[in-house]
Amino acid sequence: MMKVKNIIFIGFMGSGKSTIARALAKELDLVFLDSDSLIEAKFDQKVSEIFKEKGEGFFRQEEQKVANFLCSCNGGSIASGGGFIHVLDFDKIGFCVYLKASFEYLKKRLSESEIAKRPLFYDEVQAKRLYNERLNKYEQKANLILDVENKSIDELVIEIKKVIK
Ligand code: S3P
Repeated sequence: MMKVKNIIFIGFMGSGKSTIARALAKELDLVFLDSDSLIEAKFDQKVSEIFKEKGEGFFRQEEQKVANFLCSCNGGSIASGGGFIHVLDFDKIGFCVYLKASFEYLKKRLSESEIAKRPLFYDEVQAKRLYNERLNKYEQKANLILDVENKSIDELVIEIKKVIK
């Protein structure tokens, strides 16, 4: 059993939230959940298609429904989308880990196909602006801030385990 209800990963696109949430779920025998994947599964559509067809506002409403659900969950290692911090009652979901990296690092890490999946990263100037707007919000929400640059998944999992076990 973890000391905390759930652990939820936040951070900008490309910071490795899904990869680390999955690795931690295996390590601590938790349930791995991913807010983007839950929404994609509901509509059988990729996030980029949902944005294009239904709009960002629609996607944000779906994120809120996922958040409401997560508030009543236990034992999850949860990857959230980069904008998920804006949902109401975010603080009720669980222990929040912010995966922090510089914009330059994230940009280098994301391949063209990874950028194609992310409508809010298509335009680099806008993505940089969004990054700057979000920085403070991520820090405010975080119970733990981890600098992910040049660290392996294993190293990060060890650091998280020290804090939550
Ligand atoms: C978004 C991040 C994406 C996805 C959507 C919007 C954002 O998730 O939820 O494209 O607002 O930052 P990732 O952070 O997993 O790329």
